[in-house]
Amino acid sequence: MNNINDSVLQVKGLSKSFLFEDQKIDVLHDIELSILEGMSLSIRGDSGCGKTTLLNLVARLEMGDCGEIFWGQHKMSASASCNSKEASLRSTFLGVVYQSYYLIPELDVLENVLIAGKLSGSYGPGVRDRARALLSKMGVGNKEKQIPTKLSGGERQRVAIARALINQPKLILADEPTGNLDERTGGEVMDLLLMSCEEENAALILVTHNPSFARATNESIFLKKGKLATE
Ligand SMILES: Nc1ncnc2c1ncn2[C@@H]1O[C@H](COP(=O)(O)OP(=O)(O)OP(=O)(O)O)[C@@H](O)[C@H]1O
Ligand SMILES: [Mg+2]
Repeated sequence: MNNINDSVLQVKGLSKSFLFEDQKIDVLHDIELSILEGMSLSIRGDSGCGKTTLLNLVARLEMGDCGEIFWGQHKMSASASCNSKEASLRSTFLGVVYQSYYLIPELDVLENVLIAGKLSGSYGPGVRDRARALLSKMGVGNKEKQIPTKLSGGERQRVAIARALINQPKLILADEPTGNLDERTGGEVMDLLLMSCEEENAALILVTHNPSFARATNESIFLKKGKLATE
């Protein structure tokens, strides 16, 4: 049976507001969230309700106003986002998949995946083999020498998923990963994302507007008025 020590992520009392033209906008209020190893969780909510903000806080790309975040058993520092311990933990703990892919246009497909391995300090034949295996699993093994601008959106997202998985992260954050894709391609990419996270035992937090994708995750929650709630 799972216990709280199996959590890959715990968020406690997390709040976030922004200042806009001297006005304070409260986006997230007292958020509580946890996800266990290898589990998947979807988050839905109206545009502008704070889903991307929440993922950015979990990824430590932005700082909350108050609250605590644990990556596994590691309590993240309250303010400074980029201390070196967290930076090195990030590359092996976390993989991120964005709606707009964010591949590096100057690098070919294989290099785009390998660069994430390099950043984590692991580079060698084993990483190259794993990158190739992931690209094959994603159905783009034949494109490894291609540059991203010559790929379709669906192909780019398959590469981005391989990149997110290269360091065997504990947690994948995916922010509307099929938002730019047509329905059929989006469905295929989502199936690959869910299947590969399961196979790699990576937990997944999926932000999506699509109810059927949301239902495919182990747990489905909503963000509304700054709070998380189940359906
Ligand atoms: N850096 C910022 N400065 C000021 N306001 C911000 C900033 N980032 C986000 N916001 C505001 O916070 C709110 C939440 O934005 P966020 O991008 O998290 O929404 P979202 O739920 O991801 O929406 P969508 O479904 O459209 O992607 C919005 O009102 C947005 O304008
Ligand atoms: Mg968003």
